[in-house]
Amino acid sequence: MYTTYNLFKFLHVAAVIVWVGGLIALTVIPARLARQEGAAATAALGRQAAFYGRSVVGPAAVITLVAGIVMVVVGRLGFNELWIAYGFLGIVVSMGLGGGLLSRLGSQLAELGESDDPDTARIAALQARLRTFNAINVLILLSVVWAMVFKPTL
Ligand code: HEM
Repeated sequence: MYTTYNLFKFLHVAAVIVWVGGLIALTVIPARLARQEGAAATAALGRQAAFYGRSVVGPAAVITLVAGIVMVVVGRLGFNELWIAYGFLGIVVSMGLGGGLLSRLGSQLAELGESDDPDTARIAALQARLRTFNAINVLILLSVVWAMVFKPTL
């Protein structure tokens, strides 16, 4: 029962919970804030979200990846299994999206919100893009969770 494999599976799943749960919160809260508060609040949240992404979501993604690789090695699974290859693809796409496009949009939003005369139309457009790409990111990760649980093969 207390095998190395299960220990890393626990780490893997716990890190996924932190990762995906954090992303969902970072998608829902800014959308509500944008409707209910002003540009300054959006900018403040944008800065905190960037910090959270770097210090919590990023490391959780790395732990998911490392624990996943350890399980493949310890459990003598193949890296070319469809569901495992899909997990790798999901991690690469999601980390690229989060570390690239999403963090760039977030810092643009924070800058705009901090300016003396914020361009509200541009802020709304950026927020809409952020919402869309955040939702895509969450859907990609949920599809990987599906693949991990159902383990489809070709
Ligand atoms: C490099 C990428 C990945 C590898 C190599 C990998 C590998 C694995 C392995 C070997 C298991 C254990 C399966 C079992 O014993 O039944 C597992 C379980 C799981 N993985 Fe991944 N994984 C990866 C990425 C991901 C990602 C990105 C997510 C979600 C965002 C994820 C979510 C899960 C979940 C929820 C389980 C539990 C499923 C179950 O035990 O039935 N994995 N993964």
